[in-house]
Amino acid sequence: MVSNDNNFLGVSRRGFLAISTGIIAALSLGGTSPFGVSQAAEIRFPEGRCGGNKNMGKRVLVTYASKYGATGGVADAIGKELCGKGMAADVVLVKNAGNISSYQGVVIGSAIYMGKWLSEALDFVKKNQDILRQLPVAYFLVCMTLARPSEKNMTEVLSYMDPVLKSVPEIKPVGIGTFAGALDYNNLSWLNKKILKSKGSPEGDFRDWNAIRTWAREQVYEKFAHYEFKK
Ligand SMILES: Cc1cc2nc3c(=O)[nH]c(=O)nc-3n(C[C@H](O)[C@H](O)[C@H](O)COP(=O)(O)O)c2cc1C
Repeated sequence: MVSNDNNFLGVSRRGFLAISTGIIAALSLGGTSPFGVSQAAEIRFPEGRCGGNKNMGKRVLVTYASKYGATGGVADAIGKELCGKGMAADVVLVKNAGNISSYQGVVIGSAIYMGKWLSEALDFVKKNQDILRQLPVAYFLVCMTLARPSEKNMTEVLSYMDPVLKSVPEIKPVGIGTFAGALDYNNLSWLNKKILKSKGSPEGDFRDWNAIRTWAREQVYEKFAHYEFKK
């Protein structure tokens, strides 16, 4: 089912904006800034290269967008798994991905915010669509809805990819990975913490490393390795 006004924890995007506006207004009256960050945990955005000996298989890019680092950990695990299978993989943030014409496959992922990939990930796909159309491409997303897996939540989460699939319909991904992410309230602004807490969002690291590695092997490696390039 496709929803135009995605829900996260029962709050629609419109609802989220309404709550945010209300809280900002209340705080402005009280003279307190809503954007203070308390005791932020360390946020890392892993980037690197693995594989690439002289017998190497295909060279692939694993690129991602993230605000607080959870998606970077997922991208890193995907890259390492592909290298373990003999590929050479570069893991980079989408904002640092340069010319992609030397790759023989590209994995693109993003954290989900308000029911969508971060805009820089979609921009990357749009900007590089002429090259991506000729390559095997896999998408993935990282979100908290899957911290509570259910059929309904999976349907919801799959709809998060609709804007990407509709914006660039010529790119048909060989796989779409959907993974539970991580949320640390200490990293959030006062406002986001308040909203997510009030909705009962679970806090913690829900990344399932086995599921991530299995997807990398079975959906990415297998399909990239056997991809028939268009002439
Ligand atoms: C302000 C905010 C909005 C979010 N919106 C959604 C959402 O719509 N759906 C969802 O499943 N998760 C949502 N999340 C959870 C994030 O997708 C999850 O924490 C993810 O792991 C963050 O990845 P990152 O650390 O790479 O940025 C939201 C988190 C925050 C802080």
